[in-house]
Amino acid sequence: MLRLLMGALLCVGACAVAQTAAPAHDAGGYAAPTAKLEHGRKIFVESSCHFCHGVDLTGALMGAADLMHDPLVGADNDGNFIGPVVLAGLPNLQTAMPKFPELTKSDISDLAGYVHYLRQQGRFKELTASTATGDVAAGKTYFAGSGGCSGCHTEADMRAAAKKYDRTSLRAHLLLPTGLAPKDGVANDAGDAAHRKLVENIAPADAANVSAYLETLR
Ligand code: HEC
Ligand code: HEC
Repeated sequence: MLRLLMGALLCVGACAVAQTAAPAHDAGGYAAPTAKLEHGRKIFVESSCHFCHGVDLTGALMGAADLMHDPLVGADNDGNFIGPVVLAGLPNLQTAMPKFPELTKSDISDLAGYVHYLRQQGRFKELTASTATGDVAAGKTYFAGSGGCSGCHTEADMRAAAKKYDRTSLRAHLLLPTGLAPKDGVANDAGDAAHRKLVENIAPADAANVSAYLETLR
């Protein structure tokens, strides 16, 4: 009897510790880091987006689009492209996507912010895991051309950055300069916005090439 009671007491202690240690999660994954993102996540889960598109966007079940690589999501700003799809659904497909006409403009903004947040995390992981060696000349062309980097950065800036970081963290800072700080999926400023678009859309080959070019500036 006493042993049973002791066991129960022990469990109470241990369970309390386990509860505070484990971050809150539900069928849609772990709680998001900010109130706006968490509201977006709630809508994502309650609308069953996670069921077809995956909790981290890598699901793509039942013929659903791969939202980590879908160009419409990459081009979206604050729900301007995602919103109309979600409000109207995609009824004429073999596996239809339901419509969610009850969502308000601010719901759409939070939902889209959460989708971007997931995509930025997923693409950051994917691109930093790659060990492909890039082409220096192609990277230099990309930097000054279609990458649009030289609109904001001089070669001297990039030399300073290349000297500061090793190969791996240079790639990480190139993609998301401030790391993955919890943000509302809405950029702070033009530089932040540019880098968030970059991590969501840059082709793996361009990421490897521009990294290889920056390496040579060291
Ligand atoms: C029952 C499954 C299902 C659910 C639930 C679902 N989708 Fe989809 N979704 C699809 C399918 C199927 C497509 C179309 C894929 C295609 O055209 O290749 C799609 C496409 C999309 C697209 C891309 C459209 C384009 O033209 O590129 C977006 C964005 C999207 N879904 C977002 C969402 C969001 C956000 C939610 C939750 C509010 C959601 N979906 C819920 C199945 C679903
Ligand atoms: C709209 C402006 C803008 C564009 C376009 C842009 N960046 Fe940035 N970038 C910034 C800002 C702002 C920072 C943060 C300030 C800083 O860390 O120097 C930054 C930071 C960086 C850093 C980290 C610097 C450091 O010292 O930590 C690298 C590397 C970088 N960008 C590379 C690029 C590359 C490569 C491209 C093109 C593919 C690009 N950026 C496009 C504005 C921009």
